[in-house]
Amino acid sequence: MIPGLMEVSKAELGSDYLVPHDFEETIGSDSDFCFVAMDGGEPIGFAICNILGPDRIDPVLHLDDPERGILLGSCPVGYIASVSVDDRFKGRGAGSVMVSRCMEEFAARGVDVVCAMAWKSVIGRVNIAKVLERNGLRAVKEVFGYWNDPRAFPDGHDCPVCGNPCSCSAVLYVDGAHTSMFPSTESQKD
Ligand SMILES: CC(C)(COP(=O)(O)OP(=O)(O)OC[C@H]1O[C@@H](n2cnc3c(N)ncnc32)[C@H](O)[C@@H]1OP(=O)(O)O)[C@@H](O)C(=O)NCCC(=O)NCCS
Repeated sequence: MIPGLMEVSKAELGSDYLVPHDFEETIGSDSDFCFVAMDGGEPIGFAICNILGPDRIDPVLHLDDPERGILLGSCPVGYIASVSVDDRFKGRGAGSVMVSRCMEEFAARGVDVVCAMAWKSVIGRVNIAKVLERNGLRAVKEVFGYWNDPRAFPDGHDCPVCGNPCSCSAVLYVDGAHTSMFPSTESQKD
């Protein structure tokens, strides 16, 4: 399925966002998993998740304090890393079902705190907002220029909306039970 999923990723998240290894490393892993949405035997979308210990908070999330420190103190943290659905199949519930299964899988693996960094494009749209909110996550902080941070993309990110360099931001979402740990909760209303 990986070649088909890579096509979805390239079209929806940008040519450089994921590589086949990002899917491969989830297979049989204790700390990563991936759900795939199927239609007629063909993969049409995916959700990749990571379970982050303190050693992976910085390399994966590259956040600054205070959010960095709060998440470091909350490990293991469930991270909804990449969700994408083929454009022809959007709006039919695949994204919501996959994220719902991710939440169940985090719980089954003993993860309490769940977060996501949602892409907020330069036009101000957070594609995945409703999907996350339906699954109990809430926005706590917007991080400007997140996808152009050299800690994540040393050569810049090829954004499907604004190209390279990417000027989009990210919104940190956290599961509803833990938003009160974040000081910016009250100021971030997305
Ligand atoms: C975000 C995404 C995964 C949602 O998948 P999906 O299968 O369409 O999601 P669902 O059908 O469960 O939920 C639909 C919701 O997604 C949102 N959505 C975003 N783009 C959409 C589109 N082109 N068509 C339909 N819904 C879209 C809407 O808020 C919609 O809400 P509604 O059902 O009340 O209208 C998908 O739109 C996608 O791949 N977008 C591009 C990549 C992306 O932004 N990924 C998230 C990165 S953080």
